[in-house]
Amino acid sequence: MSNWHKSDWRKKPRVQMPDYTDAAALAAVESRLSAYPPLVFAGEARRLTTQIGAAARGEAFLLQGGDCAESFEQFSADSIRDTFKVMLQMAMVLTHGAKVPVIKVGRMAGQFAKPRSAPTETVNGQELPSYRGDIINELAFTPEARIPDPARMLQAYTQAAATLNLLRAFSTGGYADVHQVHSWTLGFTESEKAERYREMANRITDTLDFIKAAGVDGRSAPSLQSVDFYTSHESLLLEYEEALTRLDSTSGKWLAGSGHFLWIGDRTRQPDGAHVEFLKGVLNPVGVKCGPSITVDDLKRLISILNPGNEAGRITLINRFGAGQVGDHLPGLIRAVEEEGFNVLWSCDPMHGNTIKSASGYKTRPFDRVLREVQEFFAIHRAEGTVPGGVHFEMTGQDVTECTGGMRDVSDENLSLRYHTACDPRLNASQALELAFLVAEELSDLRERALSARSA
Ligand code: PEP
Ligand code: CO
Repeated sequence: MSNWHKSDWRKKPRVQMPDYTDAAALAAVESRLSAYPPLVFAGEARRLTTQIGAAARGEAFLLQGGDCAESFEQFSADSIRDTFKVMLQMAMVLTHGAKVPVIKVGRMAGQFAKPRSAPTETVNGQELPSYRGDIINELAFTPEARIPDPARMLQAYTQAAATLNLLRAFSTGGYADVHQVHSWTLGFTESEKAERYREMANRITDTLDFIKAAGVDGRSAPSLQSVDFYTSHESLLLEYEEALTRLDSTSGKWLAGSGHFLWIGDRTRQPDGAHVEFLKGVLNPVGVKCGPSITVDDLKRLISILNPGNEAGRITLINRFGAGQVGDHLPGLIRAVEEEGFNVLWSCDPMHGNTIKSASGYKTRPFDRVLREVQEFFAIHRAEGTVPGGVHFEMTGQDVTECTGGMRDVSDENLSLRYHTACDPRLNASQALELAFLVAEELSDLRERALSARSA
């Protein structure tokens, strides 16, 4: 991609991006950001690509999760820690079920910009521009708050840097040591699944004791003491992305320095558009959201543009069709990808196709629909003989009431109790853990089938 330049997207049609009114203020922010250090490094992005390539072959599994939209106001060490803890718990459940390494990727440290279904919203007869995420404007429903302000990019960068710093410390500083498997539980997740987690953690501790008694001390094994934890977000606000993009001196390739893994949203994946143009030139692993409107031809075109060398691990297709609709879309896409010999990882986002308005007026997602979409995703891959390689969730370690259902049954009337999301409804910690157990069962079933096919 030698002729590509990080500003080439500016020549292409753009959608879902703000019109900044103060060009001088915007230019000043871009120039400052361009001088700031990148948040991630090329070697890390390359390692993640290699790991995603392994997941596409069924030798690992991708777990991606976090906020729909990170918020300036709710930024705190505790909430980062709690989401990190739930992800560690989920990863442990998945590793235990699938017997393969789990790649952990947070929707964190940069997930600030949001595409919206309408450019404006109307409340009590007043129409204002839509909220587009804290990196662009403010959630408060006033005309001033909704004006896009480029200075917000600097605050987003600072928050992302602090978040990543904490995540790096948690990942390698002893907190994520597998010997701590019991300490990752959160106080409010009491349920049958929490009990199951405790039993599994006991078995893991037993195994560690056994290995130690046999003369191998797990405390000196780096892979048991720390984890790789990667960051990801939707690559939507291209002024921010461009300003953090750097030429990697070792490879001569461009690195998007804002996060390890970037994805293109379902609303911005036009093959001739600005977002595809930007992501085609960076070396990071890239996700493409695939909703019900994607056609086989769109998909083939997108993959050819984004991964002309068919590199393993470069492309993750994040499916979000909605429960009951996976069978209408996924088989055709899988067959086209197989026919072309494209190297991709299939991941299931059971959140974005299952959003409804509850009777109480809140945007919610019924947990049983979320579960059903995951089951449909696995069933179709089983039928097609392809690899269901990952999952993508909106979730938090906080005890929120945003999605209905689950073991600690959140009802329609209870949504208002702790509804904190700045955008879409997230799974709370116990719903996330429950989902992890379901995915682990699907994965262990796959593994057993593969083993018995081999021995037959
Ligand atoms: C998201 O992941 O928050 C999102 C907006 O998804 P999609 O592009 O799939 O609608
Ligand atoms: Co969302």
